[in-house]
Amino acid sequence: MPESPFPLARQARLAVFASGRGSNLASLLAAFPPAGDEPLAAVRLVLSDRAGAYALERAEAVGVAAVHVPFGRDRDGFERRADALLREYAVDLVCLAGFMRVLSPAFVERWQGRVINVHPSLLPAFRGLHAQRQALEAGVRESGCTVHFVDAGIDTGRAIVQRRVVLEADDDEASLAARILDQEHIAYPEAVRLVLRGEVRP
Ligand code: GRF
Repeated sequence: MPESPFPLARQARLAVFASGRGSNLASLLAAFPPAGDEPLAAVRLVLSDRAGAYALERAEAVGVAAVHVPFGRDRDGFERRADALLREYAVDLVCLAGFMRVLSPAFVERWQGRVINVHPSLLPAFRGLHAQRQALEAGVRESGCTVHFVDAGIDTGRAIVQRRVVLEADDDEASLAARILDQEHIAYPEAVRLVLRGEVRP
């Protein structure tokens, strides 16, 4: 297991990968603004596999580099381009936030310990898609979100931060997802701080 590169003796440079609306991106931009007034880190690059992703507009609105990298059926092409951009922007930590693609084991290996992700359940419960629906169907009393290191598995890397949400009797998938999303917005910046301070390692 390679040594963690953190803590750094300088402001860390973050990249965010997002496929959709980017509300987690927004909370990371608020916590680690590109203007650089947060000494710990600044968001320097936003990458999306979808040209129309609102996440790209959020990045452009605050002057952060926002790049659409097509994924299609060509994961290798996406990862080669992503690697080049991450090097070009000298990125230290990659934050997957609503990124709906699975990265290859080779990519994850190259970035071992420097890629994290947010998942809308208390892992290891309810891995994979529709985690909120899985929780409702399982009839559990509580669920929540997990920010975790990305390893070669699906939602299997070491947890960094977890935040809980109690399920209400009248919850449906949308209401539960909304309450979990509120907790994600708190958990993600908290997890970035812990990783960058070297307080949590893969
Ligand atoms: C979040 O619920 C996250 O857990 C899941 O996708 C959603 C992303 O939302 N991976 P957003 O794009 O950050 O608003």
